[in-house]
Amino acid sequence: MPEPASADTALPQGPDVDVVDLLLTQHARIEEQFLLVTGASGARRQEAFDDLVRMLAVHETAEEEVVHPLSRTIDPHGGGVVDDRLQEERQAKEMLTALLNADLDSEGFEASLLMLRTAVLTHARYEERYEFPQLRAKVPPDRLRALASVVRAAEAAAPTRPHPGVESATANLIAGPALAAVDRIRDLVREAVRRDAS
Ligand SMILES: [Fe+2]
Ligand SMILES: [Fe+2]
Repeated sequence: MPEPASADTALPQGPDVDVVDLLLTQHARIEEQFLLVTGASGARRQEAFDDLVRMLAVHETAEEEVVHPLSRTIDPHGGGVVDDRLQEERQAKEMLTALLNADLDSEGFEASLLMLRTAVLTHARYEERYEFPQLRAKVPPDRLRALASVVRAAEAAAPTRPHPGVESATANLIAGPALAAVDRIRDLVREAVRRDAS
């Protein structure tokens, strides 16, 4: 099977790219990464799953740190929309945590992964339908473009999966237990996002 190029595709570049463009790109990548996990087995499935877990940690942490708080400020009466999105993110996080200890080639894993996929993609559609249009409508375009750097910083902060034979500090960071690795990625993203936004 040819290596799909898009799983590691860089985020769109250019002066007109705003934070919503980048989040939409990440949604598309997440959807694709779910397919890569279900389509693989053994070591390939583990790699694809690790990539998915990393992407989800990067994406949702950046949204929780910057995007949802911004949504709250632009619509004081729209808190319910943000609360609903945060609740969905919490539920997805719990489902993911349960999966981190599962045998990736078991039937139970497949079923749980599909449930997580439904939850994550439904959540993403709700963001696209109820939250992102409000950002585009109410936040000045230059501010949305400036915030793109936050998502870039988030991606850059998260260590990538170590490649065989490559020893590095980054590799060591995610060599530990999976849940600890996810927490570590979230901490790194949070730090980078706060640094960038301050
Ligand atoms: Fe989200
Ligand atoms: Fe999202």
